[in-house]
Amino acid sequence: MKVLGIFGSPRKGGNTETLLKEFLRGCKEGGAEVEEIFLRDLKITPCLEIYACKKDGRCPLQDDMQALYPKLAETDVLAVASPIFFYSVSAHLKAMIDRCQALWAKKYLLNQPIAPGRPGRKGVFLAVGGSRGSKTFDGVLLTMKYFFDALDVSFHRSLLYKEVDGKGEILQHPTAMAEAHALGKEIAKGI
Ligand SMILES: Cc1cc2nc3c(=O)[nH]c(=O)nc-3n(C[C@H](O)[C@H](O)[C@H](O)COP(=O)(O)O)c2cc1C
Repeated sequence: MKVLGIFGSPRKGGNTETLLKEFLRGCKEGGAEVEEIFLRDLKITPCLEIYACKKDGRCPLQDDMQALYPKLAETDVLAVASPIFFYSVSAHLKAMIDRCQALWAKKYLLNQPIAPGRPGRKGVFLAVGGSRGSKTFDGVLLTMKYFFDALDVSFHRSLLYKEVDGKGEILQHPTAMAEAHALGKEIAKGI
């Protein structure tokens, strides 16, 4: 089983990075093959609404997204982590998501499969916010629901933690690290 971990935070060693690393550690223990992608290290142009993707499901913009498209299609589990930025995902992650409009076009306009031979793909979303607002995750959950759907991935689980702000504070959270590790192991074993 292949697990692709997408790190959406610009902050090195931050809370969502720590959390996703722990999730992936669980995946490895469960026997999965894991690959990590740090969006902050990639050059991903925002979608420019050229709409060439409507014709063939491909984006003509030549940047690091071109190497990422096949990885998104050739994974069984897609695990995405993002800090909450203004009730949304990070700009790094949003740029990647918007570039997946090409895959949305492939699926819904051209009726082509996104991941042939990989039924039952699962999506996991990990997010951390600093505030204690009751609506902290409302926006990102909608975004991720429709992102996973465009990629033919079923939204399996999310782990969401609020009131976690300073770098490394997630390590002080009473349950987060254990939950991330357990979920990774569980998902790798196909539970
Ligand atoms: C630009 C920016 C916007 C933010 N907006 C929110 C927000 O809307 N709600 C919230 O709860 N936290 C917000 N935060 C706090 C981060 O979500 C929080 O510090 C989180 O732990 C960062 O995760 P990371 O270490 O993985 O980057 C914001 C932080 C930044 C830098």
